[in-house]
Amino acid sequence: MLVSKINEVKEQIKSWRGQTIGLVPTMGALHDGHKSLIDASAKMCDKTVVSIFVNPTQFGPKEDFDKYPRNLDTDLEICRQAGADLVFAPEVNEMYAECPAVTIVPPRQYTNILCGKLRPGHFDGVCTVVTKLFNIVRPDFAFFGEKDRQQLIIIKKMTADLNIPVQIIACPIVRAENGLALSSRNKYLKVPDAPLYKTLFDIKMCYNDGMTDIKTLSKGVSGANGLEYLEFRDKDDLSLKEIADDNTVVFAAVKIDGVRLIDNMELG
Ligand code: PAF
Repeated sequence: MLVSKINEVKEQIKSWRGQTIGLVPTMGALHDGHKSLIDASAKMCDKTVVSIFVNPTQFGPKEDFDKYPRNLDTDLEICRQAGADLVFAPEVNEMYAECPAVTIVPPRQYTNILCGKLRPGHFDGVCTVVTKLFNIVRPDFAFFGEKDRQQLIIIKKMTADLNIPVQIIACPIVRAENGLALSSRNKYLKVPDAPLYKTLFDIKMCYNDGMTDIKTLSKGVSGANGLEYLEFRDKDDLSLKEIADDNTVVFAAVKIDGVRLIDNMELG
């Protein structure tokens, strides 16, 4: 079922009282990565709600909000096939009726790094809209992909720090055959190559062979074409690592064809 109003969601949720509810927040343009989140929720919860909302507050003024891919009909079919019980696809004025409005601001040491450094204010927008969705749906579980791992870590911290009664479930990255992490923005690529996956995989292999010095592990990669960052950080609090260990995640971003691709890999 498709609804676009907050009250309609609340009414539906009321009628499901006593059953476990899973929420999969998305911005639409759904692919197999999103499908895996919906599948996970449908397996774990009695009812699954998918939200489809291209959230303007997480886009910078020069970013791709206007041309972000939107295709509600295809998205609805994917949701149906994956076993979603309700799709919430609101308009912008339904989600942001009040202006100015209160926003959620996560600690800067979590947001001024990696993608947040390149996208000021992005995670404030993400945390604000996710909090709103949590308050509208009141899910028991919410499903996020490890592909956006910085987002996942920040959302986990936000729910813990604000005592939001939802359990965050992290779902593994879904990759194309060549290793490219699935993303709605892959549509913009001229050639769907997977340079980040190869780099991250090679680093993981070196770590498995016993190499832990970060300078040595990233040797030869730092100057690579289009690379925006390659950083070794803690998998729980995103602090920088000097020596790689099993709690280390390598985060990378590259710009190809004007598109920023992000990826990450746990070394442990
Ligand atoms: O990961 C996304 O698609 C978005 O950042 C999210 C979590 C749906 C919030 O708009």
